[in-house]
Amino acid sequence: MDQTRISDYDSDIERDSSEDWTFAGADTKYFTHGLHPYPARMIPQIVARLLSSYSEENDIIWDPFCGSGSTLVESMLYHRKSIGTDLNPFAIFLSRVKTTPISPIKLRKTKGDLIDNIHKIRRKDVSLQPPEMPNIDYWFSPAVQSDLSLIREAIDSIESQDTRNFFLLCLASTVRDVSFLKKREFKIVRMSKKKMKSFNPDVLTSFLSHIDRCIPLMDGFVRNLPKSYHKPEIIEIDNRDTPIENGSVDSIITSPPYGDHSTTVAYGQFSRYPALWVGLDLHDIKTVDKRGLGGRAKRVYEENILASNTLDLTYSAISKRSPKRAKDFYNFFFELNESLLEMYRKLRRNSVACIVVGNRSMSRIRIPTNLIIVELGDEIGFSHEMTIGRDIPQKRMPWQNAPENIEGISADTMHTENIVILRKN
Ligand SMILES: C[S@@+](CC[C@H](N)C(=O)[O-])C[C@H]1O[C@@H](n2cnc3c(N)ncnc32)[C@H](O)[C@@H]1O
Repeated sequence: MDQTRISDYDSDIERDSSEDWTFAGADTKYFTHGLHPYPARMIPQIVARLLSSYSEENDIIWDPFCGSGSTLVESMLYHRKSIGTDLNPFAIFLSRVKTTPISPIKLRKTKGDLIDNIHKIRRKDVSLQPPEMPNIDYWFSPAVQSDLSLIREAIDSIESQDTRNFFLLCLASTVRDVSFLKKREFKIVRMSKKKMKSFNPDVLTSFLSHIDRCIPLMDGFVRNLPKSYHKPEIIEIDNRDTPIENGSVDSIITSPPYGDHSTTVAYGQFSRYPALWVGLDLHDIKTVDKRGLGGRAKRVYEENILASNTLDLTYSAISKRSPKRAKDFYNFFFELNESLLEMYRKLRRNSVACIVVGNRSMSRIRIPTNLIIVELGDEIGFSHEMTIGRDIPQKRMPWQNAPENIEGISADTMHTENIVILRKN
């Protein structure tokens, strides 16, 4: 298949000039959205607009790939009920902290007690064990390990679980700052030896600066919540088989991964060390990238198994260049189709799924994910309402929101993304 043919399909995408979907210059880290980074985060302004267009107050909104919880935070602010599912335990932890309002007065008081406690434990001069994690000495200097363990010990004595989790999230941000991990990377890469020599982070200062950054964000969230808000239900699970009641969801707003985690965004690797320091399970974290959509390439392609002509054409184009990559491609869409089937089952009739996708490339073949989703959806029973094309402002390309280290995504393809709207008939 040649690229011109695929691009021709883009004429299906609406570019409504009366509505600006770029949100250039907008602050995307307001309230608890800014507590901690997460790769390929959905822009909250997009969620807010989709909520206003496709749902009513008190509706149930489901984000099957909830990641850091952008849909859940906005749903609370817009007085919707919401459900978030994700198989990454760190995403679940992050979503829970971001959707748990805590009074800033309480947080400031706890901060004071926490500092006293840290000094008290330091004076006792006991040796504290860091949580179990692979290659700890490769990623953290002995001094950093000892300071992180000290802070962790002090946080553990905070009585309220919600407040404890808030401070653990500040610790997670600190872990990123003070480890030998190369900054602004999704994958686990160590900084250069030269950089390590002069790297001497002040762990406590970093921790306190994250607390001081995060309390005002939580304060903004608390102040802007409606009086009687709905607390989301957040479930750590593979979204292809969920306990959500069939036909109960009023609207889906979500952004799936771009492809299998290992060759696109490795959510598990990104989360690993912060997650282990906050006490999440090593095995669950280590297996995220294998368990994510397309993580275990085991299926053999058969034409017409998935009802998408565009998928078949794209498969054959990729397989001419790389049979292995073609297998990864097929496996990812096979599993994405299973997620779409579950979305269909859970939605009530005549309601919509809004799916935000970026079209990546594999072996230099652009993958028209939006078109494949429309065709797969059609076979399942959805009708294609519309696709909104949106330009991603240059400023948003860096790692916070878009994966520039994904094969084929650094060039023109990721300057746009599509919001595919499917309606359950
Ligand atoms: C693009 S991110 C979602 C980002 C999210 N919209 C946000 O604003 O933070 C995709 C998410 O899908 C999750 N994921 C991948 N496969 C999954 C599956 N089968 N079931 C549930 N979650 C999955 C990943 O762990 C990742 O958090």
